[in-house]
Amino acid sequence: APQLIIYDLDGVITDTAEFHFLAWKKLAEELGITFDRQFNEQLKGISRMDSLDRILALGESAASLSAEEKLELATRKNGYYLELIEEINPGHILPGIEALLDDNKQAGIKIALGSASKNAPHILDKLELSDYFDYIVDAAQVTKGKPDPETFTNAADALGIAYENCIGIEDAAAGVDAINSAGMFSVAVGEQAHLGHAHYRVDHTQDLVFQDIIERFHNQPK
Ligand code: G6P
Ligand code: MG
Repeated sequence: APQLIIYDLDGVITDTAEFHFLAWKKLAEELGITFDRQFNEQLKGISRMDSLDRILALGESAASLSAEEKLELATRKNGYYLELIEEINPGHILPGIEALLDDNKQAGIKIALGSASKNAPHILDKLELSDYFDYIVDAAQVTKGKPDPETFTNAADALGIAYENCIGIEDAAAGVDAINSAGMFSVAVGEQAHLGHAHYRVDHTQDLVFQDIIERFHNQPK
């Protein structure tokens, strides 16, 4: 039976995935690099510096920049992002998520956060959701970001739970890869075109229903 559900933050619990996109887009435009939502799918779940590297590579300007210059750009993007999330409050929790967390807690199944974001603890506080979580993966202690499984295995290891008894919930292709390579059951929210490799996928967060997820977990082909 499942003993732990690990939630991604940006794009699953709240719509900060959109704010990351807007902040990167603003920075990229300042650099004369244009990208669209299709390209942005590749950035979801990817750390701040790795995201910057992908954008610079797209603009073919990666090689010309020093480490200091890159840090300045990443910090600038985070500044834009912080402006966008300033107003975040519990009203920004995506539909269905609070019911899901409530049902998860009532079932006695542990809850963890598996986010690559250094802003994650701050955002959870603003959403007033911190109390639900038994464990939060600290972006600083993860050396290999998604699609590496480390973000998810860290949470399971910290709580002493076997990977096969864990479920991960993601909106990013790289996140689903991470859950799958951890040997966990992957649940995705979003489009089939990006997330077809998940064990179970729904279109919208309100379709993330606790009983459905548990049923799918039990019916997965072994
Ligand atoms: C999450 C988001 C990414 C973001 C990363 C780092 O994984 O999905 O879009 O780049 O966190 O976030 P941070 O807040 O540390 O810049
Ligand atoms: Mg996400």
